[in-house]
Amino acid sequence: MRIIFATGNENKMREIREILGDLGLEIVSMKEAGISVDIVEDGETFEENAMIKAEAVSKLCDDIVLADDSGLEVDYLDKAPGVYSARFMGEDTSYDIKNQAIIDKLDGVPKEKRTARFVCAIAAVLPSGKKISTRGTIEGMIGYEIKGENGFGYDPIFYVEELGCTTAEISPEEKNKVSHRGNALRAMRKELLSIYENTCN
Ligand code: IMP
Repeated sequence: MRIIFATGNENKMREIREILGDLGLEIVSMKEAGISVDIVEDGETFEENAMIKAEAVSKLCDDIVLADDSGLEVDYLDKAPGVYSARFMGEDTSYDIKNQAIIDKLDGVPKEKRTARFVCAIAAVLPSGKKISTRGTIEGMIGYEIKGENGFGYDPIFYVEELGCTTAEISPEEKNKVSHRGNALRAMRKELLSIYENTCN
């Protein structure tokens, strides 16, 4: 049995292999599995979008299918950009511009009201048809300036008090240990372990 992860993103695949590697299942991307499908992510929550992707791929194979959806919630902006994180100000707009726009929207907003979080939902559709979903978060705040060269997306404005820096200022390994995606994947690992241990024993 294999796990197919519904993504074309190589960084995500590396993280997934690191966290789910010890399950003893082969882990492949959609591309490696030879699956290509156009998916419209029109859900209203991270969980809905992740499940839309997992279900679409699951229709085309007999494997365990996982998919994720993630984004940034800024409390002062009523949790925007949320599920629209990638589409905020247009998919093709650079993150330098998107990040500066968020900083500008929070101009004059005091530290205690700059709270934000990255959220990641992981959905699984098993060969039996059973569906599972897990959620991971990392709490932080919107910084006052763009800082750091690592990571991607909104990392340079996402300041984590416990780290004393933004998530763009730490290594990928450090980020995986505390990230929303890492946390959601670790929760999914537990779910899969309990199901497949019971099946095998
Ligand atoms: P997706 O779930 O990979 O489609 O991510 C949606 C969007 O959320 C990304 O394009 C980024 O804008 C944002 N995002 C999700 N995770 C992160 C992260 O770890 N760092 C920075 N931005 C993120």
